[in-house]
Amino acid sequence: MFPRPLTDDRCPLPGEAQSAGGRVPIATGYEHEGAHPMSVETLAREKAVSTAIREISHIATLPQITLKIIQLVENPNSTAQDLHHLIANDPALCTRILKVVNSAFYGLPGQIGSINRAIVLLGLNAVKNIAIAASLTKLFKGGELTPNLSAKDLWTHAMSVAAGTKMIADKLKLGLADEAFLAGLLHDVGIMVELQYDRNRLVETITRCAPDKDGRPTLGLMEAEQAVYGATHQDFGMALCEKWKFPKSFQNVTGFHHRPMDLPGDSRLLPCMIFIADHLAARLPGSFRLDVPDTQVPQDVLDTVRVSAADLEAIFAGLPDAVKAAEQVMS
Ligand SMILES: [Fe+2]
Ligand SMILES: [Fe+2]
Repeated sequence: MFPRPLTDDRCPLPGEAQSAGGRVPIATGYEHEGAHPMSVETLAREKAVSTAIREISHIATLPQITLKIIQLVENPNSTAQDLHHLIANDPALCTRILKVVNSAFYGLPGQIGSINRAIVLLGLNAVKNIAIAASLTKLFKGGELTPNLSAKDLWTHAMSVAAGTKMIADKLKLGLADEAFLAGLLHDVGIMVELQYDRNRLVETITRCAPDKDGRPTLGLMEAEQAVYGATHQDFGMALCEKWKFPKSFQNVTGFHHRPMDLPGDSRLLPCMIFIADHLAARLPGSFRLDVPDTQVPQDVLDTVRVSAADLEAIFAGLPDAVKAAEQVMS
């Protein structure tokens, strides 16, 4: 049996989504020169996003080596030897990749002593995903944001969703654990764009979502982001992934993880897995959950992933240990 592809690697066309009756226009915020003129709100959002991405370009860069790895793997003429040469020039990255590959978390039998061996066993794409994941830690620096939230909390959250998404991929035997893990790490990267672009505005945003006496946020994160920044972390995250030339599947994850059913049917699987893992992570004590006010996962999302309620509870039970293992590997 072939594993189901996580995605067809495409974003919906600007302003389109899938409905039962076919594609219908929706306000995605990414309408360009289509038949409909852009609304004032859309224009303002595009401006907010492009300004933020431009402003942070000197900070939020992936290491040069990671960008080169992405380029190389996307090029169909590249060989395993090319990737090996590139990574071999960066001993720190070699060490990190081998640490991930050899961890219990990755679960391969026996020790892998060289990058060459890792590429042969896992393939170019998996090694690329591990290299990107290994280079993302630096992005999540930033200390305390408010008395109740620090950049470290967001990193822990990213780890929880990464571990949860990988567990879902493993449970369903999708065979794409590294892509699922990286997607989980990246899904809320738009919040890091907000942090690096304008820390005070992020503090203002979070303050507006202050929890009520039952611990539930009084205002949804995205409503507050829209009011303060003129765009949401989905918009910022998607734009950053676009700037980094990440595959469309990751742009879909960052841009649609709170609305995966707005994507065309064949692009929904990975964003739906992230949606579910985000909701599982929100149930962990002390977890960041300003953008997940309700931990109930809608039936259509469960149906898309084809995961049962029993499977989800089993994954949730194992999640705390998986998060600890992921943190160890990525530290
Ligand atoms: Fe989010
Ligand atoms: Fe999240």
